Amino acid sequence: MPFSIDRVIPWGRTLAEYRAMFDLSEGDLGGRILGCGDGPASFNAEMSALDRAVVSVDPLYSYSAAAIQRRVQETFDVVMKQARDNQQDFVWTHVPSIQELGRRRMLAMRRFLSDFPTGKIEGRYRDASLPYLPFSDGSYELALSSHFLFLYSAQFDLTFHCSALQEMLRVASEARVFPLLQVGGTPSPHVQGVIEYFKSKGFRACIETVSYEFQRGGNKMMRLGR
Ligand SMILES: C[S@@+](CC[C@H](N)C(=O)[O-])C[C@H]1O[C@@H](n2cnc3c(N)ncnc32)[C@H](O)[C@@H]1O
Repeated sequence: MPFSIDRVIPWGRTLAEYRAMFDLSEGDLGGRILGCGDGPASFNAEMSALDRAVVSVDPLYSYSAAAIQRRVQETFDVVMKQARDNQQDFVWTHVPSIQELGRRRMLAMRRFLSDFPTGKIEGRYRDASLPYLPFSDGSYELALSSHFLFLYSAQFDLTFHCSALQEMLRVASEARVFPLLQVGGTPSPHVQGVIEYFKSKGFRACIETVSYEFQRGGNKMMRLGR
């Protein structure tokens, strides 16, 4: 399916959220990290300000900061209305209210947008699409997918998920995916197939409960490694 910015619903997540979603330790944060489908998250910007090594790939990065900012503005009210209409589907502990959700998301996306032009020149934001990554084998310690794999289970089949994760494990020693829910908040039908595929190839594959839960039932992370 060809990528178009008109299908992206920007939803910037922060370093604090990435830490909790992926159970990232200080050791993890000290390694070379690849974020796959990071979109307008501020993870890369915040890590880079701390002198940590993060590269993010996303087809969204073929667009200019101005075009991404336009998309953020176009969709913000729609996203907030959806959250307001479906409040019962979220756990309001990490984020206490709808207003606070909007404030934090906008802050994260502004942080991303101001870092994006420099980060692109520095090669920290790369225009690339799973299941192909423009890096040599073993370039990273860790590859992450937040709210891309499993989320779009209706659009991307099991074969795509296995190929994408195989590619992430080619360039990194370990891959982590969060959450394991698809759009609508139900468990992805591909989770079991992915676990079986990687176990049959001799990889470690497990599901762990993490401390982060915003989407109700979305507190599980998949960890794959050699
Ligand atoms: C819901 S957003 C998640 C953004 C960020 N990871 C977060 O958790 O806030 C999904 C992202 O996946 C990106 N995406 C779409 N197709 C992709 C592909 N084939 N490979 C990598 N990223 C893709 C979109 O551009 C979008 O930025």
